[in-house]
Amino acid sequence: MSKTQLLRKMFQEKDIIRIVGAHDGLTAILVEKNGFDAVWASSFEISASHCVPDASILSMDEFLHQAINMNDSTNLPVIVDADTGYGNSLNVIQMIKKFEAVGISGVCIEDKEFPKQNSLLEDGRQRLASIGEFVGKIMAAKNTQRTEDFMVFARVEALIADWGHAEALKRAHAYANAGADGILIHSKSEDPGEIIKFVNEWDRDTPLILVPTTYKLTLNQIRDLKKVKVVIFANQGLRCAIKAINKSLRKLNNTGDLRQIEEDLVPLSEVFELQGMPLFKENERKFVKGENEDIQVVILGAGIPIDSSLEEICKKIPLIMLDINGKSLLQRNIEILNSLNIKNINVVVGYLADKVNFANINKIFNPHYKKKHILHSIFTAENILTNRALLIYGDILFDRYLAGKLLKAKGDIVLAVDGNYKTSNIRNKKLDLIKAKYDPVIGLRKLEVERENPVEKIGKKLSEDEANFEFIGLAMFSDKGIKNFKQAYHTSKEKYTQGQFQEAESFDLAHFYDLLQEMIDGGYKVNVLEISGGWSEVHGFKDYKRVCQMLGALERNEFK
Ligand code: SPV
Ligand code: MG
Repeated sequence: MSKTQLLRKMFQEKDIIRIVGAHDGLTAILVEKNGFDAVWASSFEISASHCVPDASILSMDEFLHQAINMNDSTNLPVIVDADTGYGNSLNVIQMIKKFEAVGISGVCIEDKEFPKQNSLLEDGRQRLASIGEFVGKIMAAKNTQRTEDFMVFARVEALIADWGHAEALKRAHAYANAGADGILIHSKSEDPGEIIKFVNEWDRDTPLILVPTTYKLTLNQIRDLKKVKVVIFANQGLRCAIKAINKSLRKLNNTGDLRQIEEDLVPLSEVFELQGMPLFKENERKFVKGENEDIQVVILGAGIPIDSSLEEICKKIPLIMLDINGKSLLQRNIEILNSLNIKNINVVVGYLADKVNFANINKIFNPHYKKKHILHSIFTAENILTNRALLIYGDILFDRYLAGKLLKAKGDIVLAVDGNYKTSNIRNKKLDLIKAKYDPVIGLRKLEVERENPVEKIGKKLSEDEANFEFIGLAMFSDKGIKNFKQAYHTSKEKYTQGQFQEAESFDLAHFYDLLQEMIDGGYKVNVLEISGGWSEVHGFKDYKRVCQMLGALERNEFK
């Protein structure tokens, strides 16, 4: 349905249509976000935003330009306040052609002489056009519109010009007869009696439109008058913006201290959102960036190595810098990620942080690496977790094939898991165990499994019988997954200020899997990607020796 059709439908279905004035794309979208039905492209607001009087000073093209901005930025229909139609009936014809062509849903023209002056001016020079001339404008407008649903409203200024009720009614009748889709009856009296009298005397089906500014009638009071279809709050948005800006800038000038106006400000993120950044980002990902270029990788490398067998080596370097056959563990993983076109690599560092040095990585320092646990480490990188993300434990090595598969896995949060541990001799290690809905397919001969397999339980305390996979330390998040994960973190942080959080003694000591379990308990779906090999942890000296031998043999082509 077009916006013009939508406006027509509102006239048929709504008891009262609530419209708010705006002057540009931003103010128009605020009208929509605050729940109103349509936007009034106010000549008063647009003129004020150009710092010129609302007195036919701006040209039709300038009003058109603003109307296009408003119409493009909002899903609401836009009704243009077209003053007198910018001249005589011939100008009205051109005006209708232009505004209808850009998707404006209706225009309102007023029965004053061109150039007009704003109706609310104390000493405005309010000169009315003759009824005949104005009827000609309405007929010209209705005759020019190309679509059936486009609306032309006639604004009666007889009360503004002090010509009295009889004249106002006479004019309104003539304009309704000429085909106007609504009559805007304007009043600048502070006493609502003037407008109420007109409404009570109105005896036609043509809908009435009110613009309460000087007179104060609530929406309910207007509804009770029965005959009013549209209420336009024409300039309140602009006026409250001026007041708010003045108040804060005055405070800033007096104090010179940004903190004094902090609470007056919307966060930058709100402005980005209003500018349409989420869609922009999505399009950038689709049409500008290469595959995987949008992914943010977070490698967790802050912790102090816990396995005593590597203690001596790790006195001088953190575990991620462990040299494995001539290249550090971190470098090996970065090379694999780069080969998959992943460029945004963030490493959370803590223990011996200055020993982690690589070009093209973003180091994020976690000052609490000694006292807090992995979940906290992940969230030191929260600012970069804005879209698709790959989380990697710093003490694992993985191959390109495995990582490539995980990048393509379906689901909002997907954990790479291996089911082989049950048949191996590493069962005595403290593994991150998982109970997924379906058991792994075990055996020498097997086809790759691709199925949805949600996690039911995760943690180190699962019983061996219950668990069917181990989490290998690689997790993929979709845009939505990241958003949900961040939300769950903040909700839990607020909720668990004391005591146990899942398996952890406190929220500060929480592991990655504790938050996942909390989400799962709340009904959230976390999936697994079932893999079989293609990775190794490097926890202790035995692991180190194994991966050195394995990589050495591979690199010397001994498996040919
Ligand atoms: C406008 O908003 O520009 C109007 C309404 O025409 S008023 O300013 O009340 O005349
Ligand atoms: Mg106006």
